[in-house]
Amino acid sequence: MPTRPVEVPPGSPAEIAESLTAAFADEHGRQPDGVYAAPGRVNLIGEHLDYNGGRCLPIALPHACFVATGRRTDDLVTVRSLQSEDGWAGRVADVTPSSVSGFAAYVAGVLWALHGDHVTVPGLDLVVDGRVPLGAGLSSSASLEVAVAIAACDAAGLDLDDTLRDRIVTECMRAENDVVGAPTGGMDQAIAAFARRGHALLIDFGTGSRRHVPWDPAAADLTLLVIDTRVQHTLSDGAYGDRRGESEAAARALGVPSLIDLEDAALDRLDDEMLRRRARHVATEDVRVGSMVEALESGDLASVGPLLTASHVSLRDDYEVSCEELDVVVETALSAGAFGARMTGGGFGGSAIALVPTDRVELVGQAVGRAFVDRGWDLPAVLEAPASAAAARVS
Ligand code: GLA
Repeated sequence: MPTRPVEVPPGSPAEIAESLTAAFADEHGRQPDGVYAAPGRVNLIGEHLDYNGGRCLPIALPHACFVATGRRTDDLVTVRSLQSEDGWAGRVADVTPSSVSGFAAYVAGVLWALHGDHVTVPGLDLVVDGRVPLGAGLSSSASLEVAVAIAACDAAGLDLDDTLRDRIVTECMRAENDVVGAPTGGMDQAIAAFARRGHALLIDFGTGSRRHVPWDPAAADLTLLVIDTRVQHTLSDGAYGDRRGESEAAARALGVPSLIDLEDAALDRLDDEMLRRRARHVATEDVRVGSMVEALESGDLASVGPLLTASHVSLRDDYEVSCEELDVVVETALSAGAFGARMTGGGFGGSAIALVPTDRVELVGQAVGRAFVDRGWDLPAVLEAPASAAAARVS
């Protein structure tokens, strides 16, 4: 029985753009006007803090969603994905939040939101090739949204500068919240729009500020492994929304606008034990984000491992968004020599990250694979995750 996790390579952007161009030409009988890509992400630390007004520190993956576009002579938009049977065709002006569902909701939702922000998207054909694993907690949805948004804005003749990128983040969130129905917090769209190669992005949702922080584990002979449990999660089902609701309830009970505004001592004023644990996760996680940024900015990668693991414990015990498979990845990776490990993203399945000495990558992968096989679970998948670049036009 093989125990080696399945590797998921990102593919070469130039080759993906070329094959997507060929697929577009097959479908529409002409060349596309452009091909665009937006990355998936892993969050290094600062989980479930975006909607609580705290800080997070994601990096972009080399895995991205690609979109080829071509102008039409009428005002229709058509969409097809190489990964899905469901296409969509319609007029942007006719889209309403409840009129589309499934894959089309992400695409039509973004166009609907941009339209509401006075972006005049012309009639377009879009063909999508999503290379971010689906349902793996790696932000395949935001990569699709942001890729569609930059393609549509370029077709509308807008400059893809930071001001537009800020609008794109807002409108992609609106699409996800109002059309897809997932009450997510904005981290995924922000990293897709503003990532920088070799850096993590410190995003402060309290102040709205962003800062690039160097992230280069290879310089310390370390590798960040992403391990996808292949337990599928979706954010539009109830559990993610429940956590958001519980955080809001805790903030209300304490009379603060959001949990991040809490003084440490105030935690004791929360009678409800469960809400107290939710609030404690938010408070302690934000401190860990600060410590991690300090460690990275002073080149002290040794301190990073324990912070990652402490974040996992807090997400597992206080915020209760882990699951057995994620816990097994974390425990096994640590026993096999990882410096630190944690679940990443929304949780309830999806992926974990492990910071591993590069000469132990194979060993850690094998150990996690064996732990899964021993329990009768499907083999996990692994991705290597050098911090990659933001959404852009690729051809
Ligand atoms: C998902 C959401 C984000 C964020 C994370 C948890 O990825 O899309 O907005 O809340 O979960 O940190």
